[in-house]
Formats: sequence, C-alpha cells, structure tokens
Amino acid sequence: MSKGIKIVTIGGGSSYTPELVEGFIKRYEELPIRELWLVDIPAGQEKLNIVGTLAKRMIEKAGLPIEVHLTLNRREALKDADFVTTQFRVGLLDARAKDERIPLKYNVIGQETNGPGGLFKGLRTIPVILDICKDMEELCPDAWLVNFTNPAGMVTEAVLRYSNIKKVVGLCNVPIGIRMRVAKMLDVAPEQVHVDFAGLNHMVYGLDVRVDGKSVLDQVLVEMGKPENALTMKNIPGLTWEPEFLLGLGAIPCGYHRYYYKTQQMLERELEEAATTGTRAEVVKRVETELFELYKDPNLAIKPPQLEKRGGAYYSDAACNLINSIYNDKRDIQPVNTRNNGAIASIPNDSAVEVNCVITKEGPKPIAVGDLPVQVRGLVQQIKSFERVAAEAAVTGDYNTALLAMTINPLVPSDKVAKQILDEMLEAHKEHLPQFHQTVEV
Ligand code: G6P
Repeated sequence: MSKGIKIVTIGGGSSYTPELVEGFIKRYEELPIRELWLVDIPAGQEKLNIVGTLAKRMIEKAGLPIEVHLTLNRREALKDADFVTTQFRVGLLDARAKDERIPLKYNVIGQETNGPGGLFKGLRTIPVILDICKDMEELCPDAWLVNFTNPAGMVTEAVLRYSNIKKVVGLCNVPIGIRMRVAKMLDVAPEQVHVDFAGLNHMVYGLDVRVDGKSVLDQVLVEMGKPENALTMKNIPGLTWEPEFLLGLGAIPCGYHRYYYKTQQMLERELEEAATTGTRAEVVKRVETELFELYKDPNLAIKPPQLEKRGGAYYSDAACNLINSIYNDKRDIQPVNTRNNGAIASIPNDSAVEVNCVITKEGPKPIAVGDLPVQVRGLVQQIKSFERVAAEAAVTGDYNTALLAMTINPLVPSDKVAKQILDEMLEAHKEHLPQFHQTVEV
C-alpha cells in the first residue's frame, strides 16, 4: 500500500456511492486513496456512468489525486486491491419489492432483511458474494472485504463459514444511527456517547450507554418511550414503544426490533402502505429516480441533501472509519459484524455477531460481552439459527433447508404458511436463484 490505497466498490452504481466518496474525500490526509474502482453489472451501466461521473467531479472539486475507474469487469478491478467494499443488490429494487409484497399476501411481514424477504435476499446474494470471494482469493488475497450488502449479518456469516476469505467485516449504519440519535436526545456531542452494542445485524441492542463515562441507560430508556424520541431510521415506521416495555427490557432496542416486538402493528402499517404509497422498495425507486436526475447535473459536485431520504444515513462514516482504523491501526472501538470468537456466549464461535470491537490492522477484535441478558438472549439465538440455516440453504440450494429457515423465522406463523410463501417466492425469484433450479422449473 506504499503508493496509496486501491479501493474497489462492487455495486458502484448505487445511489449511495456519493456518500462513500464524500467519506473518502474527508479523510484523504489519513487515508491516501490512489485508485477508486467502481464496478457494476451491465444492467447497472447507466447508473454507474452517472454516479461515477459525479464521483469524478466531487474529487476534482476537492483537488485530490484519486483516480476513479468505472468498469463492468470485476476481475480487472479486483487485481491487487487493498479494500473491496460490496453494496450490490441482486435483482435490483424489483426483487426487493417482491420480497416486501409477497409475504403480505399471507399476512406476514414483508421486509428487506427480516422474515421471508430477508431469507430471499440472502438466497440471492450469498452465491454472488461467494463468487466475489473466489475472485479475491485469486486476485487480491490480502485485501479486506468490507460488506454492506444486506442482509449483512447473513452475508458475513456465509463468507466466514463458506469461503476462504478471513479478512471480512460486515458493516451497518444502525449502531452509528443509535449513537447519533442518543446524542441528539440528550443534547450532547456524539463523541461523548459510548454505547455497548451486542447482538446481530439488525438485531443489535445497546446494553449500556454512557455519556462521558457515566451510565445514562435509564434516562435514555425513559426518553425513548416518548413519541418524539422513538429511535428509528428513514426506512422503518417510527411506531412508538410502550414506555414500560422499554424499562422492562433494560436495553436499547434497534429500529428493526419493531418487527419482532410490535409485529401486528407493523404488519398493519405495511399493509396500509402497500395499498397507498407503495412498499419501501417502491418509495425508494421514486427517490432513486429523483437522485439520479440530480446526479446528472454537471454543476453538481457534492453529495446532494436529498440522499438523506434513504435509510443508509452515516453509512459512509461507518465504512470510512473502519477502513481508516484498519489501515492506520487505530485501535479505536467500533461496532461491526465479525466472527464471534466467544465474545457473546451462547452464539457459536464461528458465527457472525454485531458487537463492539477494537479495530486493529489485523482486523476487528471483538470485546467480550459474556452472556446476553436473559430477556434478549432467546430472540438473538433464534435469529442466529435462522441465519445459519438460511446461509446453508443459499449454498446448497436444498428445498427442505430453505423451508426450515423460513419456518423457524419468528415472523412466520407455521410450516404451512412458510411453504406457501417459499413456493411463491422461489417461483418469483427463479431468475436469481440458480442453485434452486432443480426445485423450480425454469
Ligand atoms: C438502514 C439499514 C440498511 C438498509 C437501509 C435501507 O439504514 O441499516 O441496512 O440498507 O436502511 O434504506 P432504504 O432507503 O433502501 O430503504
């Protein structure tokens, strides 16, 4: 890396890319990037060109010598990369809309990373990420894989257990979002807030929270019970929590916990949205059209504020801070998805967990948590079982394993409903599920 860093971003045509570019520009002094390769597939070529040209304008405006390369040739891009970031969506937003709409027909939550939708996003994504890992082994064996592709927990799990790539970190903006909102709620600077995060991706809890070293968990739980402070993200309806439930829970839930603790209300909200404004994917499609129109403007050379309509706020901070800390061996604490290695008791050692880690040049070192509090342990274990079985189904293409994953997901009411949803979704997504072709006729 002596002559500067080479970064490869797979899914480079994503509307989030300007976030990432802004993050790299801000940190250039510490993180001297020589080449940024944005990679996409032919269906994403137009978006890649638009967003890549904006990236070039942003870098030119900042006066930095970062070369931006746009390509559809992943292997060419990967050669000698130092960091590979992944942010692709197999089947694009149309596939996400199916993940959201089909379960609703059976009165089951339809969501990008939870329930049947999360399972199918995993089934589509895992074979692709494992292919990328094979290319990396050959072309850039020393590189770090920094994955933001959802379902990030399941994807990290699959890489850890089914590939030879060990230098992998899964990233999410949920923890950083919680920290920022706690800071706002208490009117303190985010740097003063420290949260003890532990759990899984989109299933993470703040077990304690301190401001300047002093625990403020009780105060935060009281504040979170107020409708104006219900912690959520742009993509999750901010239905309010029962204040007494939060006090009983004794830990900060993340926005996604609403799907588990408020299943009925969330389902009603989803059904209403599907019939009116459209599902989240359908809303995001409209936001994307607006964003790409803006990105085309040759006078635009910054990340436009409209990008904040997406759920991924702060994700570039999470990604760039991580890369920066690995590169510079900063040994600061960041919540990431990594191999458990015993940090959380009652989760297998070889599984991915989302937990605070010390970030070193050898990667994240998870901070030991011990047992999770009994009131959250069961749900975390159940989701981990789901993720493990789902990853196995994605790798093997085995119908029974996929049905098992669907049925043990807590959002699915029975094996019969699971089978109905599974069959309809296998058919709807068959184009992107080659591993199931012996099951589904193509
Ligand atoms: C949150 C999640 C991300 C997810 C995003 C969806 O930020 O943490 O994992 O990708 O929301 O946002 P969108 O705008 O696509 O609905």
